[in-house]
Amino acid sequence: MARSAEFWEFFDTQAAPHLALREQTLRQVFTHLDTLTGPVTIVETGCARLAGNWAGDGQSTVLFDQYIRCRDTDSACYTVDISPESVAACRQLVSPRVTVTESDSVAYLGSLAKTLVSTGKHIDLLYLDSFDVDFVHFYPSAVHHLKELTAARIAITERTWVVVDDAPPTGHFVQPSVAQLTPIMPFTVGGKGRLVADYASAVGAQLLFNYYQAGWVGF
Ligand SMILES: C[S@@+](CC[C@H](N)C(=O)[O-])C[C@H]1O[C@@H](n2cnc3c(N)ncnc32)[C@H](O)[C@@H]1O
Repeated sequence: MARSAEFWEFFDTQAAPHLALREQTLRQVFTHLDTLTGPVTIVETGCARLAGNWAGDGQSTVLFDQYIRCRDTDSACYTVDISPESVAACRQLVSPRVTVTESDSVAYLGSLAKTLVSTGKHIDLLYLDSFDVDFVHFYPSAVHHLKELTAARIAITERTWVVVDDAPPTGHFVQPSVAQLTPIMPFTVGGKGRLVADYASAVGAQLLFNYYQAGWVGF
């Protein structure tokens, strides 16, 4: 158990009041990381690109940085972004404890996963939040996020949590009356997570949550 009072003070007072749709699921993620012993490895795609943009983007890299710094001296966070502007902005927002790399995420994850495995490490939290999603034409983004999961595969264990941002439940409805909306099929994870969800279901990974973000374990 690695609960840091300093981190939770930061989360509860600085982050949670502004995190809106991500507050409860990010709280679940950090509560889970607290249950792990020893240093943790967090890998993220799509870095924080705008200071103070809690409700819009989530400030995930800022939170991961704060988490590992409060936790210990050995936990690590790796983040990758294809945009030089996002990378430069992120480097202003986080400490040197976060490795911020400018690259396409799929290429980067392939090589990072090999490096982690060759040094006896694995990913504890894989947080996928790159290629911006159009919720109507979601396929290009959903495909990219599935490629990211595939690229990182060798560093993912049964216990790795995989979390995809911008992945709210999606469904099809009929509207029998103005006041009534009736689903005609079960909800599925949508947005950036739409195809990760298909893969997760095919390999029997467990869906942990699906609010605005989706999380799984057991890949
Ligand atoms: C929604 S933002 C990330 C927000 C951040 N996670 C946060 O919570 O503040 C998405 C980022 O993904 C980056 N991106 C888009 N396509 C990418 C790709 N192929 N590889 C890596 N990053 C990509 C964009 O440049 C952008 O900075």
